[in-house]
Amino acid sequence: MCGIFGIISKHSYELKQALQRLELLEYRGYDSVGISTLDKNKLNVYKSVGYIKTLYDKISSKKSKNIICHTRWATHGNICEKNTHPHHIGKVCIVHNGIIDNYKDLIKSLNLKDKLISDCDSEIIAQTIDRQFFINGVSMSSFIDAISLLEGSYAILAQVQDCEKCIYGVKNKSPLYVGKMEAGYVFSSDLIAFQGLIKEYYELNDGECFIANGQKITFFNMYNIQIEKESIEFKDFDYSSSKGEFGSFLEKEINDIPQALCNTLFHYKNSTHKIPDLKEYKQIHIIACGTAYHSACIGKYIIENLLKIPCTCHIASEFLFQEILTDKNSLFIFISQSGETYDTLQALLKVKDLGYKTLGITNTTHSQLSKICNYCLPIYAGKEVSVASTKVYNCTILAIYFLCKKKDIDIDAKLLTDLIKSNKEDELAKEMCKSSTVIFIGKCEDYVSAMEGVLKYRELTYRNAISYPCGELKHGTLSIIDKNTLSIAILTQEKYANSIFTAINEIKTRNGKTALITTLDVPKDTADYIIKLERKKNMPINLYSIIPFQKLAYKSCNILNLNPDRPRNLAKSVTVQ
Ligand code: F6R
Repeated sequence: MCGIFGIISKHSYELKQALQRLELLEYRGYDSVGISTLDKNKLNVYKSVGYIKTLYDKISSKKSKNIICHTRWATHGNICEKNTHPHHIGKVCIVHNGIIDNYKDLIKSLNLKDKLISDCDSEIIAQTIDRQFFINGVSMSSFIDAISLLEGSYAILAQVQDCEKCIYGVKNKSPLYVGKMEAGYVFSSDLIAFQGLIKEYYELNDGECFIANGQKITFFNMYNIQIEKESIEFKDFDYSSSKGEFGSFLEKEINDIPQALCNTLFHYKNSTHKIPDLKEYKQIHIIACGTAYHSACIGKYIIENLLKIPCTCHIASEFLFQEILTDKNSLFIFISQSGETYDTLQALLKVKDLGYKTLGITNTTHSQLSKICNYCLPIYAGKEVSVASTKVYNCTILAIYFLCKKKDIDIDAKLLTDLIKSNKEDELAKEMCKSSTVIFIGKCEDYVSAMEGVLKYRELTYRNAISYPCGELKHGTLSIIDKNTLSIAILTQEKYANSIFTAINEIKTRNGKTALITTLDVPKDTADYIIKLERKKNMPINLYSIIPFQKLAYKSCNILNLNPDRPRNLAKSVTVQ
């Protein structure tokens, strides 16, 4: 993924200012950080492993008119300074977001093996541009010749010695925006970094490149033909990213759930959204990744129960390799919090190519997903900063109820707030952190909650856990049960009670510890830990049954003293394969 940011201006900017902007992109990766300047024809590079804040000391109060910087989510080459961007080769310094698929071929064909100084695919970009500039001189045509050799996804910014007043850039399958300042330009992987800085911006399409200085920017296509681009008005949207009274964004965002649901419902009841009538379709497919996929799986139950239309859910990265066997009159729904997830977008392009109607559900209205889909249904959850997705999950499920035209929904914010503020999960979280294995079980929709519960727990605690449909335990997995395992069951519907109680008993018989999260009144000895969930008429349980799991993951993360907002090895927006 990675985040890139750059400034070219007639005026000097403190490097610190650029890093503050880069911090708004840190959700894209936070393994290491680097910045470079081009001053007096000299490239100066500063790097650090870890969060962006680790670089502040190294740059002190330095200033420059030509700055590029990068926050990395490692794909090729481990996490260390040599693999950190910017990559400086000869006269060229680059930052890159994406993956160069043919980097190994280029190492061979351009004979670069002995020249490499890192293990990173991105270095090949700097090597290739520097080589081309050396052979044919510094020009847009040489830049394009070098870029044409690359296969894969890339948003690139490049500084070039002897060309101090310019920054080169290009985009292919990774996002890149250009903001227009009074005296220069800013470049970023996400519009979020432009807040308060610009009034107009340009959005690059794949295969477009540019050269910019403090006065003007010139765009080209990959045939080196100059192209005109219209600027777009920049509207400040809700970027609020304060933790408020909370210790972490994760805690804040779980606490935001009641308000986020109320806001989303309010918008759905009071504004007109151009959405398709699901009943006109013979079949519905929902495609997504991670937590968004789990909300899709809940969506399947909602659509099939309310509309009786067959609905299939697909993990986007799997769907890309599957044959599409469906009725011509099918609707494809894509769910993505960020609207920028690579696998989801690729699946969307595949479906669009075949001419099916598409609907996007996203929390990011200016995203690629909302632009490409035929219809877009926004979620009004507010900005989600923490890497682990929480409130958007709940609101996405509400969006699906809205699509099914379910009218009689009320959000009881008080009930939800009480649930979130209670300490009901504290003892169970302690037990989870002591157990060798935690197994989450459920049936149908409750099994989906168990899957999402596991994802949250793994993501935030780095500990292993598994989810199982309760009826499947006896077909193999019961063998792992012993006194050190903890099984957590969720039960929100009377009709599933027998299956769950049977599974709990089978676990107890084998000395496993048990917990039950339930809306039903059950005898105290049903499980070692019982967490009661209140039900409320007109508030579907699917909207909030996940909350105890979200809290358990968060509380376990706190017990283990880990970073709730930036789990290791992850990033908020996964824009690579
Ligand atoms: C987990 C999580 C991820 C995302 C997944 C899809 O907490 O956040 O699993 O759900 O990467 O991201 P979006 O929804 O942006 O497409």
